[in-house]
Amino acid sequence: MKVSLAGKVALITGTAGGQGAVAARLFAEAGATVVGCDVREAHGTARVDLTDEDAVRAWVEDAVAEHGRVDVLYANAGTTRFNPVEDVTSDEWHFVLRHELDVVFFPVKHAWPHLRAAGGAVVLVGSTAGLTGSVTNARVAHTVTKGGVIALTKQLAAEGAAHGIRVNCVSPGMVDTPATRGDLLAEDHPMRRIAGAIPLGRVGLPEEVVRCALFLSSDAASYVTGANLVVDGGWSAVLPGAPVPQT
Ligand SMILES: NC(=O)c1ccc[n+]([C@@H]2O[C@H](COP(=O)([O-])OP(=O)(O)OC[C@H]3O[C@@H](n4cnc5c(N)ncnc54)[C@H](O)[C@@H]3O)[C@@H](O)[C@H]2O)c1
Repeated sequence: MKVSLAGKVALITGTAGGQGAVAARLFAEAGATVVGCDVREAHGTARVDLTDEDAVRAWVEDAVAEHGRVDVLYANAGTTRFNPVEDVTSDEWHFVLRHELDVVFFPVKHAWPHLRAAGGAVVLVGSTAGLTGSVTNARVAHTVTKGGVIALTKQLAAEGAAHGIRVNCVSPGMVDTPATRGDLLAEDHPMRRIAGAIPLGRVGLPEEVVRCALFLSSDAASYVTGANLVVDGGWSAVLPGAPVPQT
């Protein structure tokens, strides 16, 4: 079955850059009418701060007023901070909760009645950080929020089933985006060396995550709900070892 979103309206968050910008392009190529938003200004993207519930409600209602329905919600946006437990201030802790959980929960909550009407699909974005601890990247708040996104997927799948809503998660490992290029993948960051141990021998591309989200959003995944699809080149599936020699 060809993966198609023809005739569907897809809300995608965080479309000004990174994986969200790629998602806006690939979902439109698959036939969807894409309604994107971001806290940053970008062409074809509504300016919305997803930590502001009223702004999220207005964004969803505007989309429904213009396009009549919501078939897909891809809650991609997020901003994080990395620090070890002793250094995380109360402000930083709450910043990460707001910018990685509120930004997911508010769009889900306000899109939910429309997804129910359409028999829609939700894709959340977790992370391998929600599945594992890391000795190299102290990320206590981020680990908690991404673990929360994966748990949220399962609860929403349970609540959505009776309404015909499927809810799944994609969990990227290390992906080459502006966010990682300036931080975890920078020349002098130890995570860049750790990435050398990824079994498939490289970090991922935004397209490789988005293609999985596209599948989960489509009718090709009609019997998939509550799943967490890990997209990490095998990183979290194997114990640490020496880098794999490339052929
Ligand atoms: N890049 C990676 O290696 C990686 C790995 C695992 C998970 N992820 C997850 O993938 C998703 C996308 O990440 P990315 O790498 O493309 O990051 P990115 O920073 O390139 O893009 C995120 C986008 O979300 C927007 N955004 C952030 N907070 C917002 C808010 N409050 N309201 C509206 N827009 C907001 C940003 O402005 C940005 O355009 C995130 O949920 C991230 O946690 C990324």
